[in-house]
Amino acid sequence: MNMEINIEASDFDQEILQQGELISDNLNMLRLEQYPPDAEKGLRSFSLAEVADYLGVTQNHIKKLHLEGKGPVPATTSSGRRTYTAVQMLELRHFLDKNGRSDFKRYVPHRRAGEPLQIVSVVNFKGGSGKTTTTAHLAQYLALTGHRVLAIDLDPQASLTSLHGIQPELDKNPSLFETLRYDDQRKSIKEIIQPTNFPGLDIIPANLELQEYEYQTPLAASNKSSPEGRLFFTRISSALKEVDDRYDVVVIDCPPQLGYLTLTALTASTSVLITVHPQMLDIMSMSQFLLMLGGILESIKGAGARVRLNWFRYLVTRYEPTDGPQAQMVGFMQAMFSKRMLQNHMLKSTAISDAGITKQTLYEVEKNQFTRSTYDRALECLNAVNGEVTSLIHKAWGRK
Ligand SMILES: Nc1ncnc2c1ncn2[C@@H]1O[C@H](COP(=O)(O)OP(=O)(O)O)[C@@H](O)[C@H]1O
Ligand SMILES: [Mg+2]
Repeated sequence: MNMEINIEASDFDQEILQQGELISDNLNMLRLEQYPPDAEKGLRSFSLAEVADYLGVTQNHIKKLHLEGKGPVPATTSSGRRTYTAVQMLELRHFLDKNGRSDFKRYVPHRRAGEPLQIVSVVNFKGGSGKTTTTAHLAQYLALTGHRVLAIDLDPQASLTSLHGIQPELDKNPSLFETLRYDDQRKSIKEIIQPTNFPGLDIIPANLELQEYEYQTPLAASNKSSPEGRLFFTRISSALKEVDDRYDVVVIDCPPQLGYLTLTALTASTSVLITVHPQMLDIMSMSQFLLMLGGILESIKGAGARVRLNWFRYLVTRYEPTDGPQAQMVGFMQAMFSKRMLQNHMLKSTAISDAGITKQTLYEVEKNQFTRSTYDRALECLNAVNGEVTSLIHKAWGRK
């Protein structure tokens, strides 16, 4: 008898159950070795040049403060370079605002009276379009530039969660489902927010349980005595009202599907980023996504669900400008809706994908793991994209 006949003879359901378990057990072992459950994610320190960049001042300005004994005291490396922790970077902002002479420039960019909480959803149908990478780097950039940020992982696959050192399978982390659910087990959003290794950035992790929302919502909508589910689209915005005064920006990593999770995020949003990898198939799938989304939003308008955005933009991701067909697709999109496209595109970079392998972002990896030019190019591109989004956010607040 040969093997193949054996496989044919076994039940498919039994076999995939066994294999699912086998993979999960072995992965857990591997992960336990690589990331012990109690390991806390640290954060590297930042060079004088980086600090000057994020604050928007000259290196000399910071050096001078230090020499005059003002502001936080940096550590000095063995080669005599000064480095600051991310917390010190934030302290420096507060110091500059308190002691600076400038009337117009503010280093602490927190929102002021009349500036509403910004809720940015990152969406696309397609897995692999760069949603999680975009969300993580945007949230971290906003935190590094002094904003108070809440990142919400709304994808049951929980990639954003694991990128922040939380292990969805091993840790019992409540997800946003706990505040969205329709029964009496519902928790306050305040109970499920967790800090991250970035000062100024909190996260609401995801896990598979989030998927329950997709099943419970239609059930709750058809419940005759209290059809709460019909107003599902208010659930994230009402939850966020509870923590409105704690944050400047909320960034939501949406699941790659057009279900109730995505719709609830969109109806809570003040702005939307649609990530798109510039390839024919991806753009075709995005066109389907837009048509379906438009149709659904139109049909729930009657129930009072409205998406009122300050802005929405397409972000080109994993772009290789030297690839002819990709460049053509970018040109194609630009010809159709240039005003809605971010001017900066996110280039494909091995620095980003390699960092991802060790569950890190480009903002956390040590620079010396890469060829300098590879790292610098990726960072420059990333900061240009995130800087552009930040200025859209500031514009929505009415700032110059
Ligand atoms: N700019 C980039 N350069 C190189 N690799 C990237 C880039 N952006 C994303 N990736 C990689 O592409 C894969 C899919 O990205 P991800 O952000 O997880 O997409 P999604 O969340 O839409 O499924 C990941 O392995 C990620 O590391
Ligand atoms: Mg993702």
